[in-house]
Amino acid sequence: MRVHNFGPGPATLPLPVLEQVRSELLDYHGSGMSILESSHRGPRYDAVHRRAVADLKALLGGADDHEVLFMGGGARTQFSAVPMNLLGAGHADYLTTGRWSEMALEAAVRYGDAREIWNGRESDYDRVPEAGSIEIEPGAAYVHYTSNNTIRGTQYHHVPDANGAPLVCDMSSDILSRPLDLAPHGVIYAGAQKNLGPAGVTVVLVREDLLERSPSDLPETLSYAAMAAKNSLLNTPPVFAVYVVGLVLKFLRESGGLEAVRARNLRKAELLYQAIDGSEGYYRGHARKNSRSWMNVTFRLPDEQLERAFLTAAEGHHLVGLKGHRSVGGVRASLYNSLERSSVEALIEFMSEFQRTHG
Ligand SMILES: Cc1ncc(COP(=O)(O)O)c(C=O)c1O
Repeated sequence: MRVHNFGPGPATLPLPVLEQVRSELLDYHGSGMSILESSHRGPRYDAVHRRAVADLKALLGGADDHEVLFMGGGARTQFSAVPMNLLGAGHADYLTTGRWSEMALEAAVRYGDAREIWNGRESDYDRVPEAGSIEIEPGAAYVHYTSNNTIRGTQYHHVPDANGAPLVCDMSSDILSRPLDLAPHGVIYAGAQKNLGPAGVTVVLVREDLLERSPSDLPETLSYAAMAAKNSLLNTPPVFAVYVVGLVLKFLRESGGLEAVRARNLRKAELLYQAIDGSEGYYRGHARKNSRSWMNVTFRLPDEQLERAFLTAAEGHHLVGLKGHRSVGGVRASLYNSLERSSVEALIEFMSEFQRTHG
């Protein structure tokens, strides 16, 4: 039996993908061995790798100006890799909208002049900056933002205006959840384990003209230029993770591409926010309405005791992974691409029943 998995990551994967992994696991395409056992320099893995890159680019509408890299170390390694590759002697501007963007900034100041130009601390990170509300001075080496704040449940619904500087985005928790305007983005990075596949690989899109910024003395596996020159095969890539990411990308293409993904995600989020808003204050959302995340819906109950009871009872109904991040508490329902609408409907039904019996 499969549960309704609202976990924030590693997160639920499409069932057809898991079934395909199972069916191919022992004997990959008649090779007599698993893809897990195949050389990363051989033709089988080569085809997997190339197809994953091509499918990602196709989903993004071509992405002709960007290199796709598969890197190690999670999104957190990118907090350092970005300034190591791009900062140089200039300065970078950071928009801080939650703990993950704080950490990105904390890493960047170790490498040079990284400045926080906006933060949402005063309002307890309940929002992202409104479109047009910040003026960014020209001349930054890059401007960094976090498109979806996994812990607080806020999300940008516009692309910030970087005043000509390349945007760098931590898209770990909403990549491929909707169509994406790549043009203003110099770098996009995302740990795969939420919307793209299993943990173990980080997808990095780097605009080609930025590759020349990578200093030649960087560790090779952290250098965008060195990784791009070797098509991410500088060292042994996480072959299994890339293989599963490839299957997820293929699945997304076959199920209608990013417009269709967007429509499904919007519907799921609307249903859950409607349930919260219709609960007469029993369930209280953390995010301000215009910053609400479609990916991570965070809310509170009247008190912490009820929250504990809610989470325990939810598990009894096979609704799992709903505990808020340990730093903030409360409830968080992660509605990533692969979560079915029926899971959201099951959660809403449970919420209504819980309120009726504990209200
Ligand atoms: C927005 C965001 N950035 C970065 C990270 C850290 O990712 P990783 O564990 O891949 O380093 C997370 C993890 O949840 C995240 O949600």
